[in-house]
Amino acid sequence: MNALEINPSGKYIDVTFGGGGHSRAILEQLNSDGKLFAFDQDKDAVKNIVDDERLTFVPQNFRHLHRFLKVYDADSANGYNGILADLGISSYQIDTPERGFSIRYEANLDMRMDVSLETTAADILNTYSAEQLQNIFSSYGELRNSKTLAELIVKERLNAPFKTTTDFISRIDSCIRGHRPRYLAQVFQALRMEVNQEMNSLEELMKQSSEVLAKGGRMVVLTYHSLEDRMVKNFFKAGNASGEEEKDLFGHSEKIFTLVNKKPITATEEEIKENPRARSAKLRIAIKN
Ligand SMILES: C[S@@+](CC[C@H](N)C(=O)[O-])C[C@H]1O[C@@H](n2cnc3c(N)ncnc32)[C@H](O)[C@@H]1O
Repeated sequence: MNALEINPSGKYIDVTFGGGGHSRAILEQLNSDGKLFAFDQDKDAVKNIVDDERLTFVPQNFRHLHRFLKVYDADSANGYNGILADLGISSYQIDTPERGFSIRYEANLDMRMDVSLETTAADILNTYSAEQLQNIFSSYGELRNSKTLAELIVKERLNAPFKTTTDFISRIDSCIRGHRPRYLAQVFQALRMEVNQEMNSLEELMKQSSEVLAKGGRMVVLTYHSLEDRMVKNFFKAGNASGEEEKDLFGHSEKIFTLVNKKPITATEEEIKENPRARSAKLRIAIKN
């Protein structure tokens, strides 16, 4: 909330509404002229909407931010004072067994945040080539033995397709290295990021955020994965995913954002003790020039 430096009569966007915790905190700081647009691609998030005329809930993926703001906000062209993104999955999603996000429960291998998407985690395991699987396990899961795991999956699925979380876990047992829950959490994280095309959505969000923010508007992003953090850092630094500054014919580069904090802000030991899910969180803040 401090990072957003809320202007009480300003216009804000919470692109990851989830349980609505951040949105409620923003609404508390807005006066009757303030406005909040909240996105979530998970239809279950609708249950958490609060009855408040300053809030407009947009049940969409934030990769379509610009398009849906035009649809939902008649004067969207004037620009927004702040955007907040708290990426990844919510505690509600991970703790709801039937969504298939958790290594702790038996469920179908689903992992879609938006249940209208076509591809589930089972589809990926049953159809991707060994090379594609290896890529997602090594880049999104950061697993050291991603090739062995990918090859085992391709061999195992010849016996029977993968359907449930528990069956999948038991069939990859021989590949598990180190701390078992950690290894499995990394496998599940990789599948989830692929099912929901999370890196692509984040890149779209970052591209569109600079078009949507007013001059002086603040962008605040919480990431939970090193690739996400790098993407955010590169956009804040150079205005693109690669992080390379683009110069015009005269060798000038126009900075889109000014960084507020050079290093990402992380949770204190004390906070992590209270809320272990904050362990991997990194917070970056930038101001639109
Ligand atoms: C970590 S939770 C956010 C929790 C929220 N800040 C709160 O206070 O309750 C992330 C939420 O973002 C949603 N989400 C993730 N990626 C999204 C995307 N590309 N578009 C829209 N919503 C997304 C998820 O469905 C989930 O509900």
